[in-house]
Amino acid sequence: MFLRNCWYVAGWSHQFPADGLVTRTMLGDPVVLYRKADRAVVALEDRCCHRLAPLSLGRLEGDDLRCMYHGLKFAPSGKCIEIPGQSFVPGKAGVRAYPVVERDCWVWVWMGDPASADPALIPRALGHGEAGWIMRTGELAYKANYELINDNLLDLSHLSYVHAKTLGRNSMAWADSRPRTTSLARGLRVERWVVNNPLAPYLGRPADARTDSWQSYDYLAPGVFLLSSRFYPPGSAAAGDMAAPRPDLEPFWVSQTSQAITPIDEKQSIYYFSSCLDRESANEEQADAQIELFRRAFDEDNAMIEAQQRVIDRTPRPRMLATASDGALNQFRRLMARLIEEEAGADASAVANGQHPAITQASA
Ligand code: FES
Ligand SMILES: [Fe+2]
Repeated sequence: MFLRNCWYVAGWSHQFPADGLVTRTMLGDPVVLYRKADRAVVALEDRCCHRLAPLSLGRLEGDDLRCMYHGLKFAPSGKCIEIPGQSFVPGKAGVRAYPVVERDCWVWVWMGDPASADPALIPRALGHGEAGWIMRTGELAYKANYELINDNLLDLSHLSYVHAKTLGRNSMAWADSRPRTTSLARGLRVERWVVNNPLAPYLGRPADARTDSWQSYDYLAPGVFLLSSRFYPPGSAAAGDMAAPRPDLEPFWVSQTSQAITPIDEKQSIYYFSSCLDRESANEEQADAQIELFRRAFDEDNAMIEAQQRVIDRTPRPRMLATASDGALNQFRRLMARLIEEEAGADASAVANGQHPAITQASA
């Protein structure tokens, strides 16, 4: 089950050329995307309403897309505007068009009822494309359900184990820290001090140097992770009674990352991630080193989560044991279940009232 009335990342802006078709499978839907002459991105159902050939094998004609099986032509609205061999185009002939917004170097697609597509619901990715930040990007395909990746990002105690040699830096500081969780409208805020942790080698500090870091992230439906990490000298957390750092307390290093998970289907997902370093304290080489560290670390997550998915698939009635570290992930799973349930309820009542269901296919 997926939450449909939600913005999903379809990719990085640079993955959508000025002239070309890009395909994605999102929430099980085949989607073809392209840019119009004004550079706005169009997302259409990748399935011709005539004989169901993929429109991604078609041809761009200005802002329109022609199916190259029998030549039906579609406007960016999804409406069929030409049928070779006949002068009449039925009013309902067309394919589904998905609302698209390009923001913060990501292309966001609304997978539900277009009438509910509110751009104000799009989370602002941290530092993306901003002059004060050195940004690097990546993506990773998963053979796993997106909720297992949400679980992973909502329990960072795994850094001390899965990432012992990368992000965890052979320390138990992450596993030993207890986060504070606050509810947000469509997500959670998770904050914690990670105390007396070793520093990443690319900071150029002595090998035995330590830091107290304030790690604060928002985790928003359907799976958007916005983390700000601020690094201070050791002792800073205790000096402030473990409260959030005062605004006048200057960190010596700041890092931000925004990450988004988009389900391909129930068993596959795609994961987009960034690394953003404060240009005032970091340089390009450090940005390269950090994204390389992230890639290695996220490969570690990928290996663990795909293996976990395979075990779950082989288990007749999988049951999980809750631990103290599971608080945030269980809260987020309940939130997603409630949003999906509310959406299903709204769809059912719209049908009962004779209105259009939330997801309507305007085919001929
Ligand atoms: S399948 Fe597209 S025109 Fe026939
Ligand atoms: Fe991880």
